[in-house]
Formats: sequence, structure tokens, C-alpha cells
Amino acid sequence: MLYIGVDLGTSAVKMLLMAADGKIEKIVSREYPLYFPHPGWSEQKPEDWWSAVMDGLKELTSECDKSEVAGISFGGQMHGLVILDAEDNVIRPAILWNDGRTWEENDYLNNEIGKETLSKYTANISFTGFTAPKVLWVKNKEPENFAKIQKIMLPKDYIAYKLSGVHCSDYSDASGMLLMDVQNKKWSKEMCDICGIKEEMLPKLFESYDTVGTILPEIAAELGLPETVKIVAGAGDNAAAAVGTGTVGDGNCNISLGTSGTIFISSKDFGVDKNNALHAFAHADGHYHLMGCMLSAASCNKWWMDEIIGTKDYAAEQKAIEKLGENTVYFLPYLMGERSPHNDPYARGTFIGLTMDSSRADMTQAVLEGVAFAMRDSFEVAKSLGINIERTKICGGGAKSPLWKKIFANVLNVKVDVIESEEGPGYGGAILAAVANGEYASVEDACAKLVKIVDTVEPDAELAAKYDKQYKKFAQIYPTVKSLFPVITKE
Ligand code: XUL
Repeated sequence: MLYIGVDLGTSAVKMLLMAADGKIEKIVSREYPLYFPHPGWSEQKPEDWWSAVMDGLKELTSECDKSEVAGISFGGQMHGLVILDAEDNVIRPAILWNDGRTWEENDYLNNEIGKETLSKYTANISFTGFTAPKVLWVKNKEPENFAKIQKIMLPKDYIAYKLSGVHCSDYSDASGMLLMDVQNKKWSKEMCDICGIKEEMLPKLFESYDTVGTILPEIAAELGLPETVKIVAGAGDNAAAAVGTGTVGDGNCNISLGTSGTIFISSKDFGVDKNNALHAFAHADGHYHLMGCMLSAASCNKWWMDEIIGTKDYAAEQKAIEKLGENTVYFLPYLMGERSPHNDPYARGTFIGLTMDSSRADMTQAVLEGVAFAMRDSFEVAKSLGINIERTKICGGGAKSPLWKKIFANVLNVKVDVIESEEGPGYGGAILAAVANGEYASVEDACAKLVKIVDTVEPDAELAAKYDKQYKKFAQIYPTVKSLFPVITKE
């Protein structure tokens, strides 16, 4: 049988066709626009996702035996607010995970409702990109839209809904809404009351490997697929990527270097970081995880290369980087504000330490290093919780760069395992569909059989020591300039 994993990302949707034995048969992708209507705002049109998915699915299945397709599942960008009216029309563009507009609602939740109360109800505190502050933002700033809301959903769940007609979500993705009681895996009545919504507006919750329904007959006909194709709940993109890299069970780590950068630690037991600097979410394997999320990771390099330097040849720019661990230029990668661990929507990207002899290569290097240093901030939080990480998997677009992997291995001083397929969320989605169809006994069983490590980047003691010194300098920059950011950012 064949399984499709849909990775609904921020810059594009990537779709992957996998055989039951894990072999990737085909990958296609479709881009869609990302809108920044104001500084710090970030939106997309759910209708664009849907047409990109339908178009991509046609190409993905154009050469295979369509009668063999048995399931479709997802890894989706998390936290995005999609709202539908009584006729199932999208009310307004989706407000994405890296949108910082909700700073007032975020302050209200964290300071007036209180972090302790939020953590008691949901295991998490509020971050501007989470879904609940966005619901409050629509309530406060667009009451006419708020009054129309009949359904609230996450990005990938909109696609699952269009494919199956079922209003569904999964525990891993729903964890990031700040509307779910993560430990008990149910919607929080208290959070619904705080946000002024009814529980009926929220989707039915499933495990990521549960079948939510079958494909709608008219969609099956349009795609030429059998009407028996199962639509499987899927996961938030980080949990799906963790499945795709075999980061399941207890104490395993994955770094995702996509538009966002995340450090993901799987755990069999539910646990909360007492300062809530790391998110405590459900995992797609049926258990839990802790996660730190930076809002701009590979996107910093993309911005620097595409928009500023004006090149598409990333490898050539990286070739010019000669000395690691000695750069005097530093970069704070807060191009969209920052989530973990600072929770600061006002933070902004910053180069510091430039001199007359600073070169273009030094600045490119500073961007790559700044992302790794900022990831280490979350890594340090994990360490302070007694979590000992000696090795990690890595995936996402940024993981294609050998230099960046080396920088990560040495900045974090961990072994970095490279997986045969870097298609984290798409591969994870296809694995979840295969598990739902009974090809494997469990997600862990599927990962053990399908995910292969093909290389390991080892840290070098001397370079790791140099980076350790540099990290300590980097760690002083944000606290020093922090108070300037609101001065610069606020009108
Ligand atoms: C995770 C997060 C991002 C998005 C990116 O909390 O906000 O990683 O899921 O798609």
C-alpha cells in the first residue's frame, strides 16, 4: 500500500508518497504567499493551502497505482488560527505561529489570568504566537469577525476537514492552542470561558495515528483515488518531524531547522518545566514532549542570502567561511521577535561587533552561529531541568548544510545524527498514516523499522570550547539591549 504525508509548512506544502516499507517514492511541493500586513504580523490564506494541496496531490499520484493509496496524514505548522463561519467559509486570513500582534492579549493572559493559572489549566503559559491569545485578539480587535465564528481550527486540520468533512485535531497540535489540558488530553473548559468561546467550536480530538474518517467521495473522484483512503489525524509539524526522525519514546532529541528552529525532547511521562520556558505538549507517539521554539532559524539565513546579499548560492557563501569559533561579529536572530526562551515579541534582529575589517563571510557566519547560539538558550533550559542530551537528530531545510550541522554539533557540544531522509514532517505524516492502516504495531515500532541514521557529526573538543566562550558572550547581548527593543518597535 502507499501512504501520503502532507507537510503544511510556512513557505510551502511538501507532499511525500511512501511505500509501506518506508521507501520514499516521490516528493512534490507547492509554494504559497506569506503576508506581513504590518511589522510583526504574519498571515496566510487557508484557501491557498487547499488549492496547493489539491494541485500537489494530483502531481504526487500521477505515476503511481492510485488504487494502492491507503492513507493520508499530516505534519502542519502549529498554532495558526483558522476561523470558519456557519457556511464553512474562512472568515479572515489565518494568523500564523510567528505572528506577534497579540502582545496585549498575551500580557492579559500571562499577567491578569496569571501564568500559574494558565499552567494549571493547560501545562503552558501564553506566547504571542499561540492560538488562544489570537482568539482574544479577534474578539477585541475584530468583534464583527468574532461574532461569525462557528469553527476554530489549526492549519493542517483545515486540510483534513476539507478532505474528510470531519472537524478534527490531534493532541500534539492542539497542545499549542493554549486551550487544551495537555496532561489529561481534553479541551479546557476554563480556557474556553476565558476566551469567550464554546467548546463545540473546537474540533474533536484524536491521537495522531487515529483515523478520523475517509476521503470525501467528490474529492476522491477529483483526485482519482479510492473512496477508502483513510484521513489520519496527523500531528503538529514538530511532533511529525520527530516521528520522521525516530525521536519517539523516552529522552530522545530532535532539532528542526526550518523557518522556525525547534529543539524537541520526547518523554514517556508528562512533565512541565516549572518556569514554562519550554512548551509541555503531547507527542504523536501517544506520549509527551518538551520543546523550545525559536521563531526565525533557517529563515534568518534565507533572509540574509535572498534579501540582503541577493544570492541563491548558499553553499558558495558558506565556502568563504574559514575560521569557526573566532568570529567577533554576533547576530541576534530575532527577525520576528522571539519565543523560547525570551517570550519577547518586541525583540528584533541585531548585528553587533562590526569593525572596518568585518567581511561579508563574517556576517554570514554570524547569522549561522546566532541561530545555533539562540538554540543553545533553549538547550540550557533543558539542561537546567536535569535533562542530559548527548546526541540529537536534525532535520529541516537548514540541515542540508554540512557547515551548519558542524556549527550546531560544536555550539551544543552534542553528537548530531543525520537521518537518511531529511523530510521530517512529511515522512512523519506518511508513517502516521501507515500506522493507522495497521502496517506497524505502533509509532515507535514503525520508527524502529523505518528510520535510518546515515551519518553522525561529532563535536570537536577544541572547537566546542571556543564556542562555549563565544556562547557566553552571545548570552549577554540580549539582556543588555532588551530594553531598547520596545523603544524601537512601538510607535
Ligand atoms: C512550534 C512553532 C513552529 C511552527 C512552524 O511551536 O511555532 O515550529 O510549528 O511551522
